[in-house]
Amino acid sequence: MDRLKAVLTEAHERLSSEPELGVIEWLATELSTSFDQAVTDGDVEEFQSFCRSHPLSQILLMDPYARRAFEKPRGYAGDAVMLDYIYRPSSSSLNGLAGVIHQATTTLPNAKSILWRRDYLANLINSTMLSREQAEVLSVASGHMRELDGLRDITTDTNVRFTALDQDADSIAEAKTTYKEYIISGETKSFASLIRERAVTKRYDLVYSAGLFDYLQDSTAVALIKAMFSRLQPGGVLSIANFTRDSHGRGFMAGFMDWCLIYRNEEDLRSLADAACPKASHRIFRDQPRNVVYLELFADRNEQ
Ligand SMILES: C[S@@+](CC[C@H](N)C(=O)[O-])C[C@H]1O[C@@H](n2cnc3c(N)ncnc32)[C@H](O)[C@@H]1O
Repeated sequence: MDRLKAVLTEAHERLSSEPELGVIEWLATELSTSFDQAVTDGDVEEFQSFCRSHPLSQILLMDPYARRAFEKPRGYAGDAVMLDYIYRPSSSSLNGLAGVIHQATTTLPNAKSILWRRDYLANLINSTMLSREQAEVLSVASGHMRELDGLRDITTDTNVRFTALDQDADSIAEAKTTYKEYIISGETKSFASLIRERAVTKRYDLVYSAGLFDYLQDSTAVALIKAMFSRLQPGGVLSIANFTRDSHGRGFMAGFMDWCLIYRNEEDLRSLADAACPKASHRIFRDQPRNVVYLELFADRNEQ
């Protein structure tokens, strides 16, 4: 932990004397190296408690984004309210050091990947709408559905019906209130119900999930992919996203935000696809900021 100690001390000194975005970016990069070492050595808990007990921790937690992840008011880090700091930044009343940290955590590369994901989903929904008279879309763990901000920017067409499945009724209510021009049916339940309900009663042209698979162990992920895929219409598309093993914020998130994800790379998603839907064709790619990997699975057009 000597290297980690030196990094935290330097970051603390630099932030106290010249608070600027670059210091947080440098700290995040250095922390990723220490985090990877801790993972290799089986010392992640020690890494976390070392970060948390350093005086830098109290400074970084002045940022409401980091603090919400740390405190987990809805039981887990990365809830929909927290993501809105990235999707819908308000002119922050935070100033000084807290303002700099907040600006850093909500605009650095992982945040860019969350915005990229929103825009990617908006484009996917739009292309589904373009090829159908009325598109049926299922979002699993839908949160506030900020991809509809992106959709509004692309098109004024509204020939789409959404099913928004989330365990959090408040998030579904927020989406329905905000995006009144779209038909959104809320289903307040766990994704586990999709796995349990074997008889499929409704099929969709597009089924997607963003911000969920990073929390699921492989066996659950495979079961959920199968359940989502079985709900596709012929010619339908399934899309899931996962933060990568080398994503920029991994050390900062684990060390100071108590936010540990299940990271996956391209080959991990390929294994999930092969286990869940060995016969389906698929596409795997990384986003432009290079922190999130995507799996798209395609239902055969000729299948009934
Ligand atoms: C990180 S947010 C992602 C929200 C949105 N999809 C996005 O990309 O911005 C995670 C969402 O997953 C939902 N969630 C977590 N566990 C769930 C479960 N077991 N079943 C259904 N939804 C769940 C949460 O309520 C939350 O809205």
